[in-house]
Amino acid sequence: MFILSLETSCDETAAAVLESTAAGFSLLSDVVSSQVALHAKWGGVVPNLAAREHLKNMLPVVEQALREASVNQSDISLIAVTNGPGLIPALLVGVGAAKTLSYLWQVPLIGIHHIEGHIYANFIHQTKTEEITFPILCLVVSGGHTQLVLMKKHLDYEIVGETLDDAAGEAFDKVARILDLGYPGGPAISAIAEEFRISNLEFRIKSGLENSKLSLPRPMINSKDFNFSFSGLKTAVLYKFRSLSKNLPSDKKELLVTELAAEFQAATVEVLTKKTMAAAKKYGVKTVMLAGGVSANMELRKCLAAKVAAELENVNCVLPDIKYSGDNAAMIGAAAHFRYHATQDKNSWQDNWKNLETDANLKLKNQ
Ligand code: KG4
Ligand code: ZN
Repeated sequence: MFILSLETSCDETAAAVLESTAAGFSLLSDVVSSQVALHAKWGGVVPNLAAREHLKNMLPVVEQALREASVNQSDISLIAVTNGPGLIPALLVGVGAAKTLSYLWQVPLIGIHHIEGHIYANFIHQTKTEEITFPILCLVVSGGHTQLVLMKKHLDYEIVGETLDDAAGEAFDKVARILDLGYPGGPAISAIAEEFRISNLEFRIKSGLENSKLSLPRPMINSKDFNFSFSGLKTAVLYKFRSLSKNLPSDKKELLVTELAAEFQAATVEVLTKKTMAAAKKYGVKTVMLAGGVSANMELRKCLAAKVAAELENVNCVLPDIKYSGDNAAMIGAAAHFRYHATQDKNSWQDNWKNLETDANLKLKNQ
């Protein structure tokens, strides 16, 4: 069977086609139309602007996904769409399109949780699935979520830790705004931090900051639970930047920004990695996985993989392909594939063209 999946929860309009059987699935097309450039000048995603763009792009993106997969609308047996969490005006466009196509084509419609999609991005490459053994601990790090999710089997989620305030991606974006590095902040900070890592010493000497202490806090790193907090770290960057940049000439200010960005990334990665490792040990998992937009961060990928290899025997560290780290519809189709084959009673999906609800705060639902 062929599955058409749609994703419009934030600022990417996406559609994908998967071929799915009980034995597995393959991705036939994966189209993403990004609005990043449009929102960059506002310093973040403007929900109504995102919705307007989704409306413009949705059907052309669906058409392209069908064309690239070499399938017709009559080949599609299931439609999957992100119905939350996310920005309501943005979600409504994808859900509205999915409901209309479901009604017109007379095919069932399934709503997929955005984070479930991010988790299942790890299953997109079939070769990987054999190394993904349960129980899994997945560190979900996106613009809206930071959670440690324990999965004892497919479609079974227990949140064992989460952020008490800002999500990790949100912290990257806010720190980038403080340091005037543009939007989205994650890629900007990681690029500048990499630059810093390469020429660390040179930077410190040139900046004349060699005597200053640019260390930032590692919030909750020693707490006994698996929760996180990033809001204080962001504020610490703000105060350090304000106090140290006073009276600095512009070239040195640039160096200060670089060093602060690198230290912020180091602090974030250290906390995320340490908590994930502690939870992986406590729950005795077989796989440690990463999901969400921040999983594109090379430092986080490297550190987590190195720690798992060094400290956890017979545990695999699974990282999503960078291509599927950010928002896309292939991951929504992958999650739909697993839900479809695991659900006995698929009848209710038939009426979802009228029943499916959109929820900005949708909770992860177990099978
Ligand atoms: O999953 P995602 O694309 O959208 C949400 O579901 O929120 O995540 C977006 C977040 C943004 O905050 C962005 O700054 C962050 O992911 N991000 C990164 C990197 N690439 C994207 N954060 C750190 N390092 C990166 N390389
Ligand atoms: Zn996302």
